[in-house]
Amino acid sequence: GGLVWRGCSGNCDAEDGSAGTLADGNANPGDKLEGSDAAPDDPVHLKRRVGLFSGVALIVGTMIGSGIFVSPSGLLERTGSVGISFIIWMACGLLSLLGALAYAELGTMNTSSGAEYAYFMDAFGGPPAFLFSWVSTLVLKPSQMAIICLSFAKYAVEPFVSECEPPDALVKLVALISIVMILAVNCYSVNLATNVQNIFTAAKLVAIAIIVCGGAYKLILGNTRHLQEPNFASSTATLGNIATAFYTGLWAYDGWNNLNYVTEEIKNPSKNLPLSIIIGIPLVTLCYALVNVSYLAVMSVSEMADSEAVAVTFGNRLLGPMAWLMPLAVTISTFGSANGTLFVAGRLCFAASREGHLLDILSYVHVRRFTPAPGLIFHSLIAVAMVLYGTIDSLIDFFSFTAWIFYGGAMLALIVMRYTKPHAPRPYKVPIIIPYIVLIVSAYLVVAPIIDKPQWEYLYAGAFILAGLLVYLPFVKWGYSLPFMDKITVFLQMVLEVVPTSTTFE
Ligand code: ARG
Repeated sequence: GGLVWRGCSGNCDAEDGSAGTLADGNANPGDKLEGSDAAPDDPVHLKRRVGLFSGVALIVGTMIGSGIFVSPSGLLERTGSVGISFIIWMACGLLSLLGALAYAELGTMNTSSGAEYAYFMDAFGGPPAFLFSWVSTLVLKPSQMAIICLSFAKYAVEPFVSECEPPDALVKLVALISIVMILAVNCYSVNLATNVQNIFTAAKLVAIAIIVCGGAYKLILGNTRHLQEPNFASSTATLGNIATAFYTGLWAYDGWNNLNYVTEEIKNPSKNLPLSIIIGIPLVTLCYALVNVSYLAVMSVSEMADSEAVAVTFGNRLLGPMAWLMPLAVTISTFGSANGTLFVAGRLCFAASREGHLLDILSYVHVRRFTPAPGLIFHSLIAVAMVLYGTIDSLIDFFSFTAWIFYGGAMLALIVMRYTKPHAPRPYKVPIIIPYIVLIVSAYLVVAPIIDKPQWEYLYAGAFILAGLLVYLPFVKWGYSLPFMDKITVFLQMVLEVVPTSTTFE
């Protein structure tokens, strides 16, 4: 077996040590693997198994999650106008499409699964790449998880509190329980986690279909009055307000770059990657447009802006005795998304610490289950803190602000590499105007809210990113490690039954 009981941290990279090497002389986890049918040191060979259909399904499956069930109210509240909200919904779809097309060039040029990490490495070198993995493990992934679990909780408690506002403590408690459940699933087995993923993806399509059909039915009955006044005039939008309204909308579209994490597995990527994007993202945009229209076919603008769980309100108005279907479908959909997000987060953490960019312990896997338990637990702990101290809206702002700094960075990487690596093979080449547009929009999205309405969240996010540099120099660049880290690592190894591995996980 390729498992090594490694008692060191920092720059020790004896990754391929012989079976059961004991640096520390306590237990030999290699023994426990005898007879196990998984051969841990067989590198997993990535097969090209993602065709056009699975590519589209992957994009649609990650993009549709919690956002379309929570963002419409927030967006309406932030803009004060149906017309402007609608335009922003569509603009978010367009921006995601353009961003994803630029990512298609990056992803076919450098096919390694690290996505942004790999592009930053190519274009700007180590420190920005490190900052990306630092921020995505500490901020981006846990906040995605926290937002989705809070949305799950809202929908899970809503049917029990009728139409009044559910107590905050209850929502947070349910969100925490859901984090623990998802953590358990992902620590228990990789197979279980992927099965949950596949089954639960269907639920969100069902939820969307119910809403769209219900809305269409109401419209056919002539219920169009809420749609007829786009009331641009009533708009409360300022430039900064519009940027944060974009944050809310863009959250629902986040995940548009997800195919870039599996480029190595796509069949004929130079054709199928852009094609999946061109089909998948407009499909999601269309769904979101129809859902928004459906909501307004059933409730008024102010009802929608005030609703805590807009899909539940929708169900109560329209589905009569079947109203329970809505919260059920949405909780299943969000649970599935949170599960998928933690699944990916575990791999990300794993990849980053194998580069020596995070604590070694975070890349270890459980001796029998092969799940990257330490990384998963680490993410969940941060997500728990975020659930305790944040709200859905503040976390969405916090997330989107940080994410768009890096999406903008990826556009810059593309533009820079057109100059620094003009002859590198580019199987798919995006019109250069596209990354420029996305870069300018992302700069606006990041700067406008700070100027218009400064919030602590932006300061925290900025501080997190900069703190990354303070960690990078001593621990990554100069290779120091803390003296007591070895002991902690060994202690955690014994408690969690985890070991380093040479297996690749992608
Ligand atoms: N768009 C999704 C939602 O509305 C969130 C996706 C989170 N991002 C991700 N890469 N998993 O819930």
